[in-house]
Parts: sequence; structure tokens; C-alpha cells
Amino acid sequence: MSAQLIEVVTIDDVAGHQFPVAVCATDDVAPGDIYLALLPSGHKLAVYNVNGEFYVTDDTCTHGEASLSEDGMLEGTEVECTWHFGRFDVRTGEACAMPCTHPLRTWGVEVRDGNVWVTGVRPLAGEPK
Ligand code: FES
Repeated sequence: MSAQLIEVVTIDDVAGHQFPVAVCATDDVAPGDIYLALLPSGHKLAVYNVNGEFYVTDDTCTHGEASLSEDGMLEGTEVECTWHFGRFDVRTGEACAMPCTHPLRTWGVEVRDGNVWVTGVRPLAGEPK
């Protein structure tokens, strides 16, 4: 049985730089793909292209240490973590399949000038807005 590892995003992760932050070019992420992007702080993000719509979540699965950009499979609007087949809705971060029970942190996204911009951290699914 593995422990639940939750990466907590603190204010330190978002302090020190201003949003929006361009994290990649839209051409870096083909439809159906997941791209590893970094905030200036080094915080890892996964950028998803769902049929031309871009979504951004934390890169680390909330069940373990899997990188969703490396070990995830995007199917529609859900990413499956191939370590233990947990799933998340990339639009909301909601955990959709066991063993994942904790939501994934999502980030606001804007597409402008051929780039994907992160506009700030969003509340966790189930957290008050
Ligand atoms: S690390 Fe277990 S489902 Fe992702």
C-alpha cells in the first residue's frame, strides 16, 4: 500500500513572479498531448491540448510522484496516470478514478500570441472559490 503524497502549492510557489506567465508555445503541445512546463519558481506544470483547448494542472499526480506529462495519457478531458491508473479531469482537477482521491491543482489559462499563458492558481476542486 502506498502513502498518499500531496504536493501543496503554497504562496511561495507563486510569489516572486507576476501572472500571467507564458509557459510554452501552443505549437509545443499537439492535440491529445501533454507538455511539461515550468513556472519561474521551478514549479512543474502539465499543459494539455484537448482538441485545441488548453488546460494546465500541476504535473505531479496526487497519489504518488508520477509526472503526468511523462507518465500520463490524455483521453478526452481526463488524464490517466499510468503508474496505478488513477484519473483526473484536467478541466477541474477532480479525481475521477481510484486510487486517486485528492484533486489535482489547476491553473488559469489564456492563449495569446501563439503562447499558453498561466494566469494564476485556481481553487482545488471542492474548495470554496
Ligand atoms: S502515482 Fe498512483 S495513480 Fe498516479
